[in-house]
Amino acid sequence: MKIGRITISDRASAGAYADRSGPEIESALVKVFGAGAEFVSAMVPDERELISEKLRELADAARCNLIVTTGGTGISPRDVTPEATRSVLERELPGFGEAMRMASLEKVKTAILSRATAGTRGRALIVNLPGKPAAVRECLEILAPALREGVAHLCGEDPHK
Ligand code: MTE
Repeated sequence: MKIGRITISDRASAGAYADRSGPEIESALVKVFGAGAEFVSAMVPDERELISEKLRELADAARCNLIVTTGGTGISPRDVTPEATRSVLERELPGFGEAMRMASLEKVKTAILSRATAGTRGRALIVNLPGKPAAVRECLEILAPALREGVAHLCGEDPHK
């Protein structure tokens, strides 16, 4: 099991502050996939082409089973993560974003400001998360069962066995 995580932030990638969301992805996903999961981490600024290039690299060359991004899903002028993600997806999974927004909205009234999406590219499942560490934690808790099952489907395992 290989997991790519990408922190998407102009300020974090310029070193203006420490990235707390990327490590948060890792600690949440170790609980879902076990200590055997291997992580590849990356950080890119909010640039559409750099984001899609990194997604393609992690899916096609590094052969990650799962790629999780954090940040850039909102409506600030520089937020382009969903557009960059859609440009590399072969099949979109709109339910991931819908579920995150619906479940998060009960706790955080600003949850609907995230345009996060998800989908597949080859055998990789790609999922956007909002940028805050708390949002990463909250959203991964909601998505955990679908991540587990989705990765198994992409590996060709029969989930009903
Ligand atoms: N979702 C959860 N679960 N918790 C949060 O704190 N923050 C929201 C939203 N989704 C939040 C959340 C806010 S304030 C914004 S602006 C959007 O995610 C987009 O965040 P991003 O641009 O950092 O991706």
